[in-house]
Formats: sequence, structure tokens, C-alpha cells
Amino acid sequence: MTTLIDQDAGRVDVEDKAMLGARADVNQLLPLKYHWAWEKYLAACSNHWMPTEVSMQADLALWKSPGGLTEDERLMLKRNLGFFATAESLVANNLVLAVYRRITNPECRQYLLRQAFEEAVHTHTFQYICESLGFDEGELFNSYREVPSITAKDAWALKYTQSLDGDTGDQEFLRNLVAFYVVFEGMWFYTGFAQILSLGRRNKMVGIAEQYQYILRDESIHLNFGIDCINQIKIENPRLWTPAFQAEVREMLVEACELEVAYARDTMPRGMLGLSAALCEQYMRFITDRRARQIGLAPIFGETGNPFPWLSEAIDLKKEKNFFETRVTEYQTGGSLDWD
Ligand SMILES: [Fe+2]
Ligand SMILES: [Fe+2]
Repeated sequence: MTTLIDQDAGRVDVEDKAMLGARADVNQLLPLKYHWAWEKYLAACSNHWMPTEVSMQADLALWKSPGGLTEDERLMLKRNLGFFATAESLVANNLVLAVYRRITNPECRQYLLRQAFEEAVHTHTFQYICESLGFDEGELFNSYREVPSITAKDAWALKYTQSLDGDTGDQEFLRNLVAFYVVFEGMWFYTGFAQILSLGRRNKMVGIAEQYQYILRDESIHLNFGIDCINQIKIENPRLWTPAFQAEVREMLVEACELEVAYARDTMPRGMLGLSAALCEQYMRFITDRRARQIGLAPIFGETGNPFPWLSEAIDLKKEKNFFETRVTEYQTGGSLDWD
């Protein structure tokens, strides 16, 4: 009888496991080779949460109260939610349509399956916020078409997904990983986190702020997983990491930083909540340098000052229990997080 399963293939040799183009059977998780991927899968599972567990009552009351938020705060909130509402979908689609297909390692795929679910939870969060607060769903979910600074970011990222259609090379895939993990999830989410958590620190929109904390905690693992993938692929395929390619990646980070600064100006034409476009620019330069270092590149801007050190602490939900004074369920049951 002929079968699609090769019965004479022999058992999986851990040395045959690889990030790209592996010879080892992708259906056999064990023996593990990349323990960092499995550990992230376990850490992610111990962070389980659902947006519907967070009460939106205080947010609804504040949003409806005429003097509850300033006009600037309302504009920022709408654009911020508008960016994230579609960004989560773009990341999820890239994950399952591009990243999952190219990575040939089962422990990484196990993490990717978990990440894909988390992106669905994040998209659900924006649906739930929209419904709970009675926002105009057409306005929110069309921001990526209608707000130029959001369109510019999403269009920049989408070209790296499109380039993976058909028969494309490993270097193009590395570009995709940089665009989505390092830039999208590792840089562009952070101005948004700073904005919403600044509201939360002032006891405004505390339900949304609590949900953003959970998203931030998830995203910090997504980012670190992406960085580990990039670095592992570099180790296994040094031919990809040429000086010309490194220069290209640095240029991508510079462009991404500029797009984010434009977005900060667009969402906050005037300063508010201890934030300003200038501080966001400094913050984004600081983050860009950190991301460059994480993938083995020299810093680009030489920015050493982090204007929002409090944001680094926001990952610690135990601390946050007393911080926002909202109902917080402690989901973290184990594992540890690399926060940056
Ligand atoms: Fe997400
Ligand atoms: Fe993510």
C-alpha cells in the first residue's frame, strides 16, 4: 500500500531540526531543539485572559460625561483604537499566511499557534470596546484607510507581506520578520501603549487601560519570540546577514521610526497627559536603538534617555493592582517575562 507517510524515514534527529527548510518531520514536537520557543509557549499560556472579563462601566460613564475627557484626549483615544483595531488583524494574517508557512520547526509553530489565538483575543478586545462604548464601528475600523498617518504605517508593513507571495527567498522572509515583529509589534505598538496607560494612570478609561496592559504583556513575548527567531535564523544561515542586508534593515528601522513620529503628531497635535510628540519622538528613538541592538545591529540614534520609564513597570501586573485601582484578576500563574 502506498501512503503519504514515509515509514522508512527513521526517527527525528534533533540536529535535523531547523528554523527554515528543515529535513526533520514538522509533525514531531519531541525531541525539542529550541527550548526558548517552548518556554515562551508556556509563559503565554499562563497569561490567559479575555477582554470581556474587564468591566467597561467606568469607561462608559466617563466617555458619556461631557467634561469627562478633553477633546484632545477623545481624538487620541479614537485614533489609537483605530490603529490597533486593524493592526491586530494585519499581524494575525501575516502570522498565519506568511510566518507559519515558512517556519519549519514544530516548537516554534506551537508558539505561533498560541500567538495567533492571542491576536484573535486582541482583535476581540477592540470589538468589545467598540460595542461597550457605542463607538461608530465604521469610523473605528476604517481608520487605517481614513487617517493618513495610520494608512502610511499599514501600507509600509503590508508590502513585506505581499513580497512573500509565491516563490520567495529566505532573505525576504527575514525582512518580513523585521517588519512585523521588530517594527509593528516592537516599535509601533509602544506609542499607543504609552498613550492609553497615561490615561489609566490618571484614572481615565481604566477598563481600556487594563486591557492594554494585558495586550502589552502578550506583545512583549511576541516581540521577544520574533527577535529569537531572527537571531536563530541568522546563526543557521549566516549567508543571509550580509553587510548590504544589515544596512537595509537599519534603513527599515529609520523609516519605521519616522512613520511613528508622524503618527504621534497626528494623534496628539498638542501635548497632553505628560506626553507630547517631542517626547514620543525621543521615546521612539530610544526604542529603535534597543531593537537594533536586540538583532545585533549598532544603535542608530544613540538615544540613551527613556522619557517614559514608568512604562517599563506597567508590565508588572502585581504592582498594577494598586496602581489603577480597578478589578484585576491575576492571570499570571508562572513563567517569567522579559520586559523591555
Ligand atoms: Fe496583538
Ligand atoms: Fe502581537
